[in-house]
Amino acid sequence: MTQDELKALVGQAALKYVPQGEIVGVGTGSTVDKFIDALASMKDAIRGAVSSSSASTARLKALGIPVFDANDVDELAVYIDGADEIDNRGYMIKGGGAALTREKIVAAQSRRIVCIADESKLVGVLGRFPLPVEVIPMAAHRLMRQFAAMGGNAQLRMREGQPLLTDNGLQILDVTGLTLSEPLRFENEVNQWPGVVTVGVFAHQKAAVCLLGTSQGVRTMTF
Ligand code: 5RP
Repeated sequence: MTQDELKALVGQAALKYVPQGEIVGVGTGSTVDKFIDALASMKDAIRGAVSSSSASTARLKALGIPVFDANDVDELAVYIDGADEIDNRGYMIKGGGAALTREKIVAAQSRRIVCIADESKLVGVLGRFPLPVEVIPMAAHRLMRQFAAMGGNAQLRMREGQPLLTDNGLQILDVTGLTLSEPLRFENEVNQWPGVVTVGVFAHQKAAVCLLGTSQGVRTMTF
C-alpha cells in the first residue's frame, strides 16, 4: 500500500471515534485531509467541527461541514489529528504543517485525542523529525541561541525566500539535533522561554489512541 492509501485507511477508520450529534475537533495535514473527506459521508450525523487551521476550515466548508469558533463551544468529545512523530507512550511531535498552536488549543479543549498516522510516524524516541516551535518574531534569534545551548540547531522556516508566517502571523523555528526522551519535562521547560508561543511537543496533549496505518491494516494503539 502507498503512504497515501495508508493515510486514507486511517482517515476512514477514525470515523468510528466520532460520536453522533457532536462537534468534532479537526487537526491539519494530508492525513487529516483524508479524514475530512471521510467525515463528509456522515456530516448529517454530526453538528460540525472546530478546526485547527485555515486550510482545514476551507476543506470542511467546501464539503458542507459547519465550522464553529472554538470560543463558541465547550469541551469537545474528540480531537482527530495527524502527527509528524508518535512514540509508544502517545507523545507526539506536531507542527510540520505550521498549525501547532491551534492544534494544541483544540486538543486541549477535547476529552480524547485520536492520532491518525501511517506507520512511518512511529518512533522509539521523539526527535528525528525537526521540532517545530512557533515563536514571536522579535525573539527568534535569541531562541535560536537558546536551542543551540542545549545542543540543537534551530532554523527559521522559510517559504519563497521569506520567513513563513503561520495562521497567527508568527514564525516557525525547526530544531534538529535534539533527543526528546523526556517529552513532558522538555515541553514544560521550553514553554516558559519568553517568545515561545507553542513548542511542537505534544506531551500534555498526548494521544489517547493512535490509529496506525500499516501494510497489514489499521493497528490500534491505546495509551
Ligand atoms: C500540522 C501537523 C500535522 O498533523 C503533521 O504535520 C502531519 O501531517 P501529515 O498528515 O501531512 O503527515 O502537525 O501542523
